[in-house]
Amino acid sequence: MLILGFESSCDETGVALVDASGSATPRLLGHALHSQIEMHQAYGGVVPELASRDHIRRVLPLTDSVMQQAGLPLSAVDAIAYTRGPGLAGALLVGSGVACAMAMALGKPAMGVHHLEGHLLSPFLSADPPEFPFVALLVSGGHTQLMRVDGVGRYQMLGETIDDAAGEAFDKSAKLLGLGYPGGPALSRLAQQGSPTAFKFPRPLLHSGDLDFSFAGLKTAVLTQVKRLANERPEGPATPQLAAALGLAQKADVAASAQAAIVDVLVKKSMAAIASTGLTRLVVAGGVGANALLREQLNAECERRSLRVHYPELHLCTDNGAMIALAAGLRYQAGLMPTTLSEPGYRFDV
Ligand code: KG4
Ligand code: ZN
Repeated sequence: MLILGFESSCDETGVALVDASGSATPRLLGHALHSQIEMHQAYGGVVPELASRDHIRRVLPLTDSVMQQAGLPLSAVDAIAYTRGPGLAGALLVGSGVACAMAMALGKPAMGVHHLEGHLLSPFLSADPPEFPFVALLVSGGHTQLMRVDGVGRYQMLGETIDDAAGEAFDKSAKLLGLGYPGGPALSRLAQQGSPTAFKFPRPLLHSGDLDFSFAGLKTAVLTQVKRLANERPEGPATPQLAAALGLAQKADVAASAQAAIVDVLVKKSMAAIASTGLTRLVVAGGVGANALLREQLNAECERRSLRVHYPELHLCTDNGAMIALAAGLRYQAGLMPTTLSEPGYRFDV
């Protein structure tokens, strides 16, 4: 059972081929990715129209490359998977259009995969895959969720952000510091030179008694601190010149303190989710899962509690086609294809 997967929800075009024959974890036979980061950098964020156009340019050459890696013709493919959402509408349309056209031409089925299910299951491609059940911390640019995962397609939401996502908090703080796009990796790099205790940023909902998150207030706190350091009035506007008035050491302290606040909340809430479910395994997925401080602190907390913690391989933390092909493969093996929103317990919103 060879499944070709397409990811095009935002600013990465990803294509991959997995072999989901039998019951062994699907095996990656080919994998190609084109990141549009450089193209969007000049605009300080993703420009949806440019993203769609670039997906169109890249998707077929990437598909050729994947089939070459696998040493197989396109006609060997048994099913085609694509990200059906959530994401940018135009960008998603490119992936779904190509996938459905290809499926029709080959006379094979096409199936939509939820983007977050792709992230959630991506650690199954690592050398040390998790076993069910586990608690999943899904931390991406658009989502922050804690889930109880009892099997493929058996997901129960334990808590989620009530406003911004963790990745958004990284990106917005980075923007205020003039670090450009994408902010997460840039902010965490700069944070290495700063002190995480230089400024006390808020850790909202830490003691709320539930497993929800809130990161919107961090942006305001970072903005207020940046204004203070730039000797600007607190009620003044947030201009790009603010960051330019700060020295590198000041920026690094703000970055380190903001990162510490985000990571602190993610780690404590993950441990609370583990405690409330009684489970002993944690799976971390999504772009923010690449963050070194988050990994370091989760590793330490899990070791202290004799818990197992699993991550996707670093290059599969951010968006990619492998996770979409894999999720389709795992769903096929579980007899769950195609993805529907009506399954009990399946609460991913597009
Ligand atoms: O999962 P992803 O590639 O896309 C979404 O589905 O949203 O996640 C992208 C997010 C961005 O907000 C980016 O800044 C963040 O992941 N990110 C990081 C790191 N690498 C990516 N945040 C913190 N530290 C990192 N090393
Ligand atoms: Zn993603």
